[in-house]
Amino acid sequence: MSTVPNLTLNNGVEIPALGFGVFQTPPDETRAAVEAALSAGYRHIDTAAAYGNEREVGEAIANSGIDRHEVFIETKIWISDYGYDQTLHGFEKSAAKLGVDEIDLLILHQALPSEFDKTLDAYQALETLLADGKVRAIGVSNFMVDHLTALLDKATVVPAVNQIEVHPYFAQHEVQAFGAKHGVLSQAWSPIGGITFYRDGEHTSTLQDPVIGEIAQAHAKSPAQVMLRWHVQQGRSAIPKSTNPARIAENLDVFDFELTAEQLAAIDGLDTGKRGGPEPAAITLEAFGRPIPEA
Ligand code: A2P
Repeated sequence: MSTVPNLTLNNGVEIPALGFGVFQTPPDETRAAVEAALSAGYRHIDTAAAYGNEREVGEAIANSGIDRHEVFIETKIWISDYGYDQTLHGFEKSAAKLGVDEIDLLILHQALPSEFDKTLDAYQALETLLADGKVRAIGVSNFMVDHLTALLDKATVVPAVNQIEVHPYFAQHEVQAFGAKHGVLSQAWSPIGGITFYRDGEHTSTLQDPVIGEIAQAHAKSPAQVMLRWHVQQGRSAIPKSTNPARIAENLDVFDFELTAEQLAAIDGLDTGKRGGPEPAAITLEAFGRPIPEA
């Protein structure tokens, strides 16, 4: 079983460098996936109210027999629960579904650029939850430089994490650099570029990329392992998703080799600047809002 090194957040809380993602994992497959992840050695699970699988994540952790405090639980408040009181209640819903009193890292899932006051109210609720000891760290997701700038202008607590799309085909260097300057850890979603796999047109899968393939061969590792190692060596947190037990274990087995500076640069050179996920500036309640059920 692999042991994963920790990263230290800006408030001193430690987070495993690699976590396990369950985005688009159907609720009926989530328990088995999280159980496989915990057996493989993952001690950080990333979910979200909007994924509809927090309950199954919580059940898998509870059933694992692993001490609750050895597992770092991260979840996200959906935009439909933004607003001060609504976000406090959003925490209650997520905590109840997860079956825990305390959440390790609670983040805002998206900025709402056209209603940024609501986003700020939601963040203020996260600050209250942090002060009350209900969460150990707070952060954001899919925040671009302008959103981070507006947030930092008003926030008391600098977000510990900004979870954004980062993989070799879309690296968001500017957002990462801005975060680093302010003490915000970048956390990569779709770290092996899963978001690119099913896209037609000019992109093929990162898994078939010849540059990544050649580096993988040189280390006798898989392309996914090379991409995850790239994140680790660049100091990012990453949360690969899989429902396949062999791939779940494979993705954690990245702590026994080292990419050279040239190899890291070659992967950096693959950035296309083309986003796979939704455009953060275009997130509105009208287009993306949907109620998050009570626990
Ligand atoms: P599966 O769940 O069948 O393993 P990302 O986290 O970058 O979005 O990637 C998720 C996608 O990558 C999923 O389609 C997942 O499919 C697939 N995947 C996860 N790990 C690996 C791996 N080690 N090799 C190949 N594909 C993988």
